[in-house]
Parts: sequence; C-alpha cells; structure tokens
Amino acid sequence: MEIRTARLTLRSARPDDLEGMHAILSDPRATLWWSTPPHETLEQTAAWLDGMIANGPDQPDFVVELEGRVVGKAGFWRLPDLGYILHPDVWGRGLAAEAVKAAIDHVFATREIETLTADVDPENAASIRLLERLGFVRTGFAARTWNVGGVWKDSIYYALSRADRGATQGEQAPA
Ligand SMILES: CC(C)(COP(=O)(O)OP(=O)(O)OC[C@H]1O[C@@H](n2cnc3c(N)ncnc32)[C@H](O)[C@@H]1OP(=O)(O)O)[C@@H](O)C(=O)NCCC(=O)NCCS
Repeated sequence: MEIRTARLTLRSARPDDLEGMHAILSDPRATLWWSTPPHETLEQTAAWLDGMIANGPDQPDFVVELEGRVVGKAGFWRLPDLGYILHPDVWGRGLAAEAVKAAIDHVFATREIETLTADVDPENAASIRLLERLGFVRTGFAARTWNVGGVWKDSIYYALSRADRGATQGEQAPA
C-alpha cells in the first residue's frame, strides 16, 4: 500500500525501516509526549516495527518517506486511533499535516468508519495544533492515563467525524 502526497510517500512498513525508525523513536525530543520512553536499543525498535509489519499491508498505518529518507510514521495502528511521529529534523514544515491528512483521507475513502480519535498530552502544543487544524474536536480529558518511564501523563481526547472533516474541507456532508 502506497500513498503519494506533494512531498511525501506513505507506505507499509518494511524490515529495512529499522534504522530510520530507531533514529526517531530513540530521540528524546520526539518521544517527549509519546507513549513510551526513548528506545534504548535497536531490539526495542525492531519489536515495535514487527508489530507494525504484522498488522499487514492493508492496515492504514504508514511509514513516511521524504526524498527517500524514512522521516516518521502516520496512521492507525489500531483503528480508529490516530498516531504520528516525525524526526525532529523535519518538524515545522507542514509535513505532519500533509502526512496525517493523507492517512485520514485514505481511511474515510476506504473504510466505513464514521469517527476517528486521538489521545494527546495536554502539553503537546504542536500535536494539539495539528489535530485542530485537521478539524478534530476535543471530546474529553482524563488525568493520569499513561505512565511513561515512571511519570504519569494526562490525556486530551479528540475526535474527527466524516461530517466535521467535510465541513473543514468545504465539502458537503453526506445527508
Ligand atoms: C506533532 C508533530 C508530528 C508535528 O510535526 P510537524 O511536521 O512539525 O507539524 P506541522 O509542521 O504539520 O505543523 C502542524 C501545526 O502545528 C504547529 N506547530 C508545530 N510545532 C509547534 C510547536 N512546537 N508549538 C506550537 N505549534 C506548533 C504548526 O505551526 C502547524 O500549525 P499551523 O498550520 O497553524 O501553522 C511533531 O512535532 C512530532 O513528531 N512530535 C513528536 C511525536 C508526537 O508528539 N506525536 C503525537 C502524539 S499524540
């Protein structure tokens, strides 16, 4: 499965994505609000990547490539929950918005699902801004939802329905 956007290729994960994904998942800047502490060993990333590959090529969860380099992942390891992470080298260029929008469009085009969800740390300003730009609306908050390396983190919950997305994109919502 492969999707092309203006600047990116989104495709199914492969074993040779190990080094590229490890560079991201071992970077403490990238994992500051992730569900796990930075990966310390390649084996940790290999196990993570195996999980993504085992999900199968039809799963709408994608490794993101920029000019042939693995720069992150975007998509749905488990529908309807959205997840994304990019290498800090490429932040601030609108690439997350481009990748995540492509993954969302793909899911709404190929699945009957009505609502997508996201769970974000209240301190993760970039991620919150990204979700709101994509039309996600806040649906809730819960304290102490994730214990990451011994530190409790909170969650803000977001949702995007087909109708919200249609409104954001200026499309007509289905009757
Ligand atoms: C969240 C993340 C994917 C954003 O990547 P990115 O490519 O820099 O994002 P974009 O350039 O597409 O920016 C999306 C929006 O967030 C804003 N933004 C980016 N970084 C920001 C920051 N540090 N603070 C506030 N807003 C920020 C951008 O200005 C943009 O909003 P705009 O369209 O109004 O200008 C990236 O920071 C990341 O990988 N973080 C670590 C992993 C993570 O936290 N994942 C989410 C878990 S829920």
